[in-house]
Amino acid sequence: MSRERLFLDRRQLLAAGASIMALSAPSIGLAAASERVGRGQLFDLDWRFLRGAGEGFEAPGLDDAAWRRVDLPHDWSIEDLPNQSSGAKPTIVGPFDRKAEGGTATGFAVGGEGWYRKRFKLAAPAGARVELLFEAAYMGSDVWLNGHHLGSHAEGYTPFAYDLTPHLSPIGDNVLAVRVRNLGKNSRWYSGSGLYRHVWLDVLAQPSRIARWGVAVSTRRLEAAAATLDLETRLEDLTPGLTVAWRLKDPAGKTVWKDQAAAQSLIKRQALAPKPQAWSPATPALYTLETELRRGAKVLDRVDTPFGIRVAAFDATQGMTINGQALKLRGACIHHDNGLLGAAAYDAAEERKVLLLKARGYNAVRPSHNLFSPAFLRACDRHGMLVIEEFFDAWRWPKLPEDYAAHFDAEWRTDLETIVRATRNHPSVIMWSIGNEIPNRNSVEGMEVQWRLANAVHALDSTRPVTAAINSFPGHVQTPTASSARAGSNAAPDHASALYLDVVGYNYKLADYEADHRQFPQRVFYGSESFSRDLFGIWDLTDRSPWLIGDFVWTAMDYLGEAAIGGSIPAASASALSLGAWPFVNAYCGDLDLIGQQKAPSLARDVVWGLSPLEVAVQKPLPAGKVEAIRPWGWSDEWSSWTWPGAEGKPLAVRVYTSGDRIEVRLNGAAAATKEVTPADLKHVEVQVPYAAGLLEVIAYRGDAVIGRKRLETAGAPAALRLAPETARGGSSRGDVSFVRVEVLDARGRIAPETGVPLTLSIEGPGDLAAFGSANPVAVGGFQDNTSAAWRGQALAVIRGTGRDGVVKLTVTSPDLASASTSLHLTRL
Ligand code: GAL
Repeated sequence: MSRERLFLDRRQLLAAGASIMALSAPSIGLAAASERVGRGQLFDLDWRFLRGAGEGFEAPGLDDAAWRRVDLPHDWSIEDLPNQSSGAKPTIVGPFDRKAEGGTATGFAVGGEGWYRKRFKLAAPAGARVELLFEAAYMGSDVWLNGHHLGSHAEGYTPFAYDLTPHLSPIGDNVLAVRVRNLGKNSRWYSGSGLYRHVWLDVLAQPSRIARWGVAVSTRRLEAAAATLDLETRLEDLTPGLTVAWRLKDPAGKTVWKDQAAAQSLIKRQALAPKPQAWSPATPALYTLETELRRGAKVLDRVDTPFGIRVAAFDATQGMTINGQALKLRGACIHHDNGLLGAAAYDAAEERKVLLLKARGYNAVRPSHNLFSPAFLRACDRHGMLVIEEFFDAWRWPKLPEDYAAHFDAEWRTDLETIVRATRNHPSVIMWSIGNEIPNRNSVEGMEVQWRLANAVHALDSTRPVTAAINSFPGHVQTPTASSARAGSNAAPDHASALYLDVVGYNYKLADYEADHRQFPQRVFYGSESFSRDLFGIWDLTDRSPWLIGDFVWTAMDYLGEAAIGGSIPAASASALSLGAWPFVNAYCGDLDLIGQQKAPSLARDVVWGLSPLEVAVQKPLPAGKVEAIRPWGWSDEWSSWTWPGAEGKPLAVRVYTSGDRIEVRLNGAAAATKEVTPADLKHVEVQVPYAAGLLEVIAYRGDAVIGRKRLETAGAPAALRLAPETARGGSSRGDVSFVRVEVLDARGRIAPETGVPLTLSIEGPGDLAAFGSANPVAVGGFQDNTSAAWRGQALAVIRGTGRDGVVKLTVTSPDLASASTSLHLTRL
């Protein structure tokens, strides 16, 4: 989404003949904006919130003094539930309720109805235009201004805007009311509830403007001497005598091209960028197109659009290329929640997710199965992370009784258009996905829907391919998965699902790739979802097959909901997969855990992708008589650890991931095992080593050369704590959050991987607690008070700014352990 920010100062407004009055109102969020009338004013502060249903809450005169004060982004489903049950088997733990309607799918989170109200002072004279943009509301929302119903919006992830102008109070006292309903079984994953993204206010002195999402920039031709860009500008409510001016700024901020024209409702232009710096994952260079609507020299409106100059091409013989360079999509499927923060889309949390993935070698994400926040997409642009933007998880045929399918016929076009218009300038977005595992997609009606969607996308954006994630092609011998069973029967012609797709996404169908390629040699494929345990085979095939342009694992990071689809359980037989989920609340199928730490599949991936020559994990010893049953999306319960008290003398499975051709294992200095690693091993082997506390050392060789050495040391009992801020400086505004890792250490400063160590956090200075918790997939408490417990020796604290700059001192304590402190320097960013 273009940032669409403009802060006209008072002088400019007066010069423009404006008489907008933004009355000062010290207790309300708009106070800060009153000096900066213009586009893109953050409207996040100082809302009143009530969790519950009610009649008449939109009434301007309602006394809401007792409602809770909240600042956005806000997700009520991650807040602790009242009346916590006690006893051996609680049914409510923190925000999770065993009886929650969403059940396993939403991770036992509770939805319901919630109301937001906000008073603000703004009196606009005749002719002004005041508009409010919600980045999203989960799920259905209704908005009233001063008692007037402005509209309803059904979809939970797409932005929507309302014109406030006709209903603003003539004396400037306004009350906005928003009802958000997350009712019934409407989501297959944790959605969060409420106004979990930003809200923005635009105040323009007069009605003429650059349309919302009305600027489009794309690369027509890219050559060393110059890039030719196609610009499209849509203008609204024009009056005679207006002009539009464009300025193109290179990544250093230097103007490299400018032009102007008489204003019309649609203007198409070509721009030339000399000696272009092309955008790619390795070089994410961002240009800015400044678009101004003017009367004479006066600027009436302005939109700044960051974009990248790049050409992406897809072809079965060349593979995928960006600016002519071949590239494989090292892809991550992810959901939108931010773990302990729930769905609240703080910009820093969104960016952190992108950075965590990038650090693990991912160059692409598939934000499943909905639009992610503007902050997330901006982070993808800045850090060179490619994106497959996905519109729908269901069309007309529901997956759950209250999901989007009920709104599909009425809303799909608006939602699809909104997504394309709002996000098409992001260079990171490379494909549009019209759906994920859509039921009934190749019935006659389904085919018609496919055709409409694909055409609608192409009509809006001719530069990117249309894709979808397909889990079954009728007539094929299927690789059975839970999901293919769920998708229902498909009775139409073979491969109808792919008929209108430019690039085909396969979910869990590695076994069919080569046969399908022989049948459809021109088809460009990728794995739109895969099991992490197929990693080795997938990348072996992908790296040598140009038609196979990449793979997206399900998933790269643990998420709330789809409780316990990953991981493993000790069981009587390896096929005992009963998923009795509660009290599991997270899917536990990620490469990274809920707080961003690497799990074993991530170590293996580091080796497969060449980030590391050697990684070692040790399978957790199983109780006597049990074997490990691995869930479909799971991985063996193994850890980069040699701390297994109680397993003395028992052989443990040491899994070695390496790009070498031989490994040697030593235990406490003595040779314990050696093994050749042949090409058929696909970079992973296992040896058994009888456990004894001490030092396990693994050495990897290629020929005679040592290419890697890993040491795992047995940790002692917990003795102390450590706090490690992830960034040296953080932001101080209410929308800013900073992340601090909490570690449990033994007497020698090594992480003691203990679970359940109680932790208490205290905060002094200008910082509030946004979340405190661990990656434990089992519900053990809430995330919003200052007590928690470590899981495998780790936890995470998230600190929210208060609006004041300063030093925040954090201290974490635990009975019997040496406490730890650290400081965070929070400043206005
Ligand atoms: C897939 C589906 C994903 C997720 C995954 C794990 O079939 O597309 O959304 O549900 O299964 O259960």
